[in-house]
Amino acid sequence: MKVPMFDLKITNKKFKKEIFTKFNNFLDQGYFFMGKSVLEFEKVTKNFLKSKYTLGVSSGSSAIYLALKSQGIKEGDEVITTPLTWIIPINAIAACGATPVFADVDNNFNIDPNSIIKKITKKTKAILPMHFAGKLCDMDLISKIAKKYNLKIIEDCAQSYYAKINGKNAGSFSHSAGYSMNPMKPFGGVGEAGLVTTNNYKTYLFLKKLRHAGTSSDPRKKITNNCVSVSLNHKIDEINAFILVLMHKNLKQKIDRCNQIANLYKRELNHKILHQVTNKNEIHGRYVYPIVCKKRNKLMNYLKSNNIETKIFNQPLCYDAPVYKKFKKEKLNNAERLMKNHLIIPCHENLSNSQVLYVIEKINKFYKFS
Ligand SMILES: Cc1ncc(COP(=O)(O)O)c(C=O)c1O
Repeated sequence: MKVPMFDLKITNKKFKKEIFTKFNNFLDQGYFFMGKSVLEFEKVTKNFLKSKYTLGVSSGSSAIYLALKSQGIKEGDEVITTPLTWIIPINAIAACGATPVFADVDNNFNIDPNSIIKKITKKTKAILPMHFAGKLCDMDLISKIAKKYNLKIIEDCAQSYYAKINGKNAGSFSHSAGYSMNPMKPFGGVGEAGLVTTNNYKTYLFLKKLRHAGTSSDPRKKITNNCVSVSLNHKIDEINAFILVLMHKNLKQKIDRCNQIANLYKRELNHKILHQVTNKNEIHGRYVYPIVCKKRNKLMNYLKSNNIETKIFNQPLCYDAPVYKKFKKEKLNNAERLMKNHLIIPCHENLSNSQVLYVIEKINKFYKFS
């Protein structure tokens, strides 16, 4: 039996028909950017996230970069973040001219608030937490730290659109937050797309300008060179926006299926395997399913020989990327340990129960005989 890590095919016939019908209308209408679909996408996401302002952008990368820019992050500033992440948020910090400062992570793969405190200096301007795999960071504690030291919070919600804690959505703890809607994400489209949010009206107006070359251009009314802040083109396409609006309708169903699989893994996998902890008051965003395990590389090869695809995420740690080595002050123990011991196993809505049971059987067999 084959078990792929991701399966991005859209197979639902009714859903496909809906996409084709809309697409036809869309071609006839001949309007391809910053129109009704973008506004609808922004409305749907605003309602779901309970955010005052949402702006569709061309990718999660753009979203995080613009979120940082909107908070005035610039040369000479330090931004505290995690080394156990996709390199993009680190690149976004550096692209603002600021310095990424790395704090250690906790057992849930998320930035550790105690480690953040140790990294604060006079130059620290912001904290950038990333919710690993969709599990929210300890945002209550991080918010307290930010308040005490007068720091901005910019959440990287690329992996956590659906996540909540105590009824509060991912992204609602920040001055500005960025989300990714690339096709691999549970709320993903069929191309590159992202979203940036804020609850502050002035920040929203500034973000709107940053999205369109630092100007107040509006493709329907006027294009102007009246640039107030250096920026490039970060606009989302109409086509991605309308597909995302349709995708949003199926999101709960997708996450419910991923939760079923996650519960099976938690209940049935050998007790030597460790999982991210999800408390009763929280909803996990279910981007991927990470485990912490012994003999990781051997397990990975064993699963591969049984046609089960797995992944190691975010290798090497960001401070070991050639371009960021100069910012590495020390080895961070938990991040190093998790990098050596974690494995991402398949968990997506297109997996059948027999595929999930097959993964469980093979992992348990590996530990029984090794
Ligand atoms: C943690 C994190 N940040 C940022 C991004 C960037 O998002 P995008 O690929 O939409 O640019 C990703 C994408 O996977 C991500 O995982």
